[in-house]
Amino acid sequence: MEQQSQSEVPPKIGDLLPTFTVQTTQGRKTFPADYAGSWFMLFSHPGDFTPVCTTEFVSFQGNQQAFQDLNTELIGLSIDTVFAHMKWLEWIQDNLGVAITFPIIADELGLVANRLGMIAPEAGTRAVRSVFIVDPTGYIRIILNYPAEVGRNTNELLRILQALQIADGYDVKMPANWPDNELIGDKVILAPPTDVMKAQERMEEAEANEIECFDWWFCYKDLPE
Ligand code: BEZ
Repeated sequence: MEQQSQSEVPPKIGDLLPTFTVQTTQGRKTFPADYAGSWFMLFSHPGDFTPVCTTEFVSFQGNQQAFQDLNTELIGLSIDTVFAHMKWLEWIQDNLGVAITFPIIADELGLVANRLGMIAPEAGTRAVRSVFIVDPTGYIRIILNYPAEVGRNTNELLRILQALQIADGYDVKMPANWPDNELIGDKVILAPPTDVMKAQERMEEAEANEIECFDWWFCYKDLPE
């Protein structure tokens, strides 16, 4: 990691990802600039040659096409050397028959992990299982932290990516458990109106059956086909 932004406070959702240049299993990369125009999912793991992490890598790789369909690149990270990463990937290929095609950052000194808040002191000096989803303009859209004991859910990560992209594309909000919400199924939520005129407009749209509402502040609609 060659460059750090001024502030050492870990970034939050809505912040630009701090700029850093690192060695990966696929050469040097600068974040977020090298991924401009794509979404990317940067995920840290406690270490190479660990069983839970291996199950995550195999699952992420098996879903690579689904990530690609969402214009999303995968990048792993752990506080290990590039040689250790390469040997671990070789082991996965030889023993599990899975070729890992996404790059893994060799954050040997833990500089990136520390900068991004991926180290939980009570968990030691290894990175926890953090996930940063970054949009095509370099903004962090979600940060998730999992403990060493629990592997990530690939379907949930894909759901989050899809939900973020739909929310951006249609200026809507996504309900709990979307697309299987208990109240509104796969419909999506309109941002609550910000003044009485807009609230009135909402109720008129509901009366015209253009949208559905439980009340003026809770309206929802189908996604366009
Ligand atoms: C694992 O990924 O299997 C693992 C990582 C850290 C500690 C223990 C297990």
